[in-house]
Amino acid sequence: MTEQQLKDLLADMSLEEKIGQMVQLTANFYGTDMLITGPMGSAKIEPEDMKLCGTILGTSGAAKLKEIQDNAMATQPHHIPMLFMLDVINGFQTIFPIPLAQGCSFEPEIARKGAQIAAKEAAASGLHVTFAPMADLVRDARWGRVMESPGEDPYLNYCFAKAMTEGFQGETPENLKEKGNISACLKHFACYGYPEGGREYDNVELSERTLRQDYLSGYQGAVDGGCRMAMTSFNTLNRVPSTANKWLMRKVLREDLGFDGVLISDYSAVEELIPHGIAEDKREAARLAIEAGVDIDMMSDVYLHYLKELVTSGEVDETLVNEAVLRILKLKNDLGLFENPYKDASEEDEKNLILCDAHRAAAREAASKTFVLLKNENKTLPLSEQEVADVLFAGPYVDTRALCGAWSFPATYDNIKTVQECIQEHIGNACHFMKGCSMFYDKEVIRDYVEEGMTPDEAEASIEQTVQAAKSASKVVLFLGESFRQTGEGASRTCITLPEIQMELLKRVSAVNNNVIVVLFAGRPIEVALIESLAKAVLYVWMPGTEGAVAITDVLFGVKEPTGRLAMSFPNVSSQEPLYYNRFQGGRPRNPGDPKAFCIGYIDTEYRPLHSFGYGLSYTTFSYSPVTVIKRETNTKANEAEAAWVASVMVTNTGDREGTETVQLYIRDVSGSVVRPVRELKGFEKITLKPGESREVSFEIIEPMLRFWRIDMTYGSEPGKFEVYIGGDSTTENKAEFDEV
Ligand code: IFM
Repeated sequence: MTEQQLKDLLADMSLEEKIGQMVQLTANFYGTDMLITGPMGSAKIEPEDMKLCGTILGTSGAAKLKEIQDNAMATQPHHIPMLFMLDVINGFQTIFPIPLAQGCSFEPEIARKGAQIAAKEAAASGLHVTFAPMADLVRDARWGRVMESPGEDPYLNYCFAKAMTEGFQGETPENLKEKGNISACLKHFACYGYPEGGREYDNVELSERTLRQDYLSGYQGAVDGGCRMAMTSFNTLNRVPSTANKWLMRKVLREDLGFDGVLISDYSAVEELIPHGIAEDKREAARLAIEAGVDIDMMSDVYLHYLKELVTSGEVDETLVNEAVLRILKLKNDLGLFENPYKDASEEDEKNLILCDAHRAAAREAASKTFVLLKNENKTLPLSEQEVADVLFAGPYVDTRALCGAWSFPATYDNIKTVQECIQEHIGNACHFMKGCSMFYDKEVIRDYVEEGMTPDEAEASIEQTVQAAKSASKVVLFLGESFRQTGEGASRTCITLPEIQMELLKRVSAVNNNVIVVLFAGRPIEVALIESLAKAVLYVWMPGTEGAVAITDVLFGVKEPTGRLAMSFPNVSSQEPLYYNRFQGGRPRNPGDPKAFCIGYIDTEYRPLHSFGYGLSYTTFSYSPVTVIKRETNTKANEAEAAWVASVMVTNTGDREGTETVQLYIRDVSGSVVRPVRELKGFEKITLKPGESREVSFEIIEPMLRFWRIDMTYGSEPGKFEVYIGGDSTTENKAEFDEV
């Protein structure tokens, strides 16, 4: 349809019809199974209400969605097709590693590829929109949803959010209706990732400067990638719930970031304006949300039952409804639904595409690039096929298929191999496996789920069996970790540690065997200091997805290198959180190793992370030459894209294996009109070098890279001294200086 045809359609719609377009319900109202991703609230929905409803969430399946579409279009007076939405985060059924792990690849192309594959599978299954990417910047690993973000760095967030958006939608607006593309929805606007104390759904207090400087970057990446939808966040930001925050939605999101798509609330967030204490009742909640520019009310009856009254009484101008509905109709049109309401829903394609070999191969390739080798004393890893007959493999993750992490609802376990199965396939049967113990003692209740554990007696017997077997093993590989239910929505933790029973297993095994290797599964950074002191090697594999076990086998046996670098800093102890590398130095900086008090930090623990952003080992080693910075004389400020400086290093593979290094560029603005971070990531490049091989890596530094929100809240650079760091992680001291005039 043309823009004019859409406007004509809008003009012909009744107010009830228009409001119907602005309501999203869960799939159970349409007689089908559904995924519950929030409380059911107090919504009272009658069958009559559903006739006009414009969108549903939480189900998939080509046949089912075609039927719902047929019924909906038959009853909708203008036969307007519905939009079908679902959380397709790191895959539909072929599950890639969680987004935080993807961030560790420092390879946005992995996120693009993963999103393309997820979109193809989801589209075949009848879906039109995914609630991704989550572009929330995360600095506190206690928060359960850090798993869904590419990590703590604004620049990395920008790159990943953009790549993921383009992966789902295609690179131009016209691509959206093409086969295999679905709309992305950036979330959660804004700052859901920084709740007080890491407590899920809690309040966020952040200065406008910090909001703009650090937190908007990921969302901007999604907008620059052409993202067609955005979701409001549950939290308050500086005491205003986002869903009622007109300034945030209309000024910051639409005017400043340039978003021009459809804005949806989070699940029942419009109704939640009442408990937040900003609306007295549903009527007021409806008014506040539409004034803020929320186009779709997800899973509450607030718009459904109160918008009409507000418009007819004159309290809400109908133009607000019209602008919202036009945006929704435009999205439906851009997806091609008026011509083809099923879009790509196809039972045939579901069979052929979902979990096809090419998708699985891409997931395997991606997974191995996200693993981070935290420790590898005496080159304990990789394992050799020859030694493996004497190696013991044990621990709760050795024979589980639950490798996908939270938000992987459509995934089916029977398509996932266990680590044990993969190692056996790789080696033959000549190795020893033992299930060390369960994930937990007794029962753990995580959200509404009960995770079955072992009684202390059963656990004792199981641990003892492993300890006995460990005595005669040359090495023991323990597969340990958080349960996937300990992360995700509603899963904040105060102590980000391994479950106690698993620490007990590790302590007792390491007491009888000096060659323990730990493979750690988790959805967040956890406390690893004690684990590292008990193990010779630690490989962090996050929640690696459908092909996770195959990829782990590849890396354990050196078929692939561990090339991941941390996208979030790791604490020494949980109480160090929030923790991030691009902090301020403070007026009383602490020198490493200097015990003197009255400096920034704590008296009872390190104030720096155990492992900082960007850290990760390889099976080989790399050396860096000193950094050189050359000024380009041709540069003028008028031509900002032209490099003003070029910073270079020579990187050499000093080990005896081929390896891949992530060369990272950080810049520090030594003094500014407001305090500047100790350093900020400004570029990265992955290079693969043969043993002994050297390569020069150069980064162009252009003036826009030096800009920030200055004291007067203008955005620009300031003259002065800058330090350029290039190295293998955010703690590198390999630096040079230059002056901007
Ligand atoms: O997309 C999610 C959101 O991230 C959290 N609340 C529920 C939504 C829909 O499932």
